[in-house]
Amino acid sequence: MIRLKNEKQINGIRTSCRMLGAMFRELIPLVMPGVETLELDRWTRNWIKKAGGKPAFLGYGPNSNPYPAAICISINDEVIHGIPSKRKIREGDLVSLDCGIDLGGFISDQAITVEAGRVDETAHKLNLVTQECLYRGIESAKAGNRLLQIARAVHSHAVSHGYGVVHQFCGHGVGLDLHEEPTVSNTPKGPNPRMLGGFVIAIEPMINIGTGDVNIQEDGWTVVTADHKLSAHWEHTIALFKDHTEILTERLD
Ligand code: MF3
Ligand code: CO
Repeated sequence: MIRLKNEKQINGIRTSCRMLGAMFRELIPLVMPGVETLELDRWTRNWIKKAGGKPAFLGYGPNSNPYPAAICISINDEVIHGIPSKRKIREGDLVSLDCGIDLGGFISDQAITVEAGRVDETAHKLNLVTQECLYRGIESAKAGNRLLQIARAVHSHAVSHGYGVVHQFCGHGVGLDLHEEPTVSNTPKGPNPRMLGGFVIAIEPMINIGTGDVNIQEDGWTVVTADHKLSAHWEHTIALFKDHTEILTERLD
């Protein structure tokens, strides 16, 4: 069941999204060559706690292997769900940061891909086109349109640049839980309901230089490209109203 959100709920989710944006603005300058990703996770936990929220990702997932951090940091061929570790960021890395805040039961979700120092032209172009895919998807996310119009917009733009689109992981409804219905695919396949006012969804294209195929690593979380080529990831939480669509998370591009 897709839970439509009322105005009060959307106001709560927007506040959570604004808090997440404020967090990202301070975090981005810390993403530099030489920094350990675990340091960035510690910083994120402290920031969210001080602000009065809770990290929405920490402890998420199966009891046997809950997600162990506040933020996902996925570097180069890592697509999503990279676990912070002793690994140090290096000059030229493409670093995806994905985080969510639970503020009094209202959940936000956003991802950006940061270029550490100077990255090469191929990586930079992938990063730009992935952002464009996100905004094309958002332009198609309107009350009255069908859900797969988002996927068509994302997919066609990526393919026009020769890129692969990850199909094993998707965007999702969000706001009262981290993952709600509907599944928001980036490839035009699957259920295709009409979108309505009150939809709150996370759109999150994951775009690869090579094929869209991915594998999950031994840790049970880290998703990597099957061909180990570069991947980028951008995500916004958005709300659909009868006559307009609002990006609830902050633009950080
Ligand atoms: N933005 C990601 C998602 O929607 C982050 C989830 S990480 C998890 O799937 F650990 F919480 F699962
Ligand atoms: Co998400």
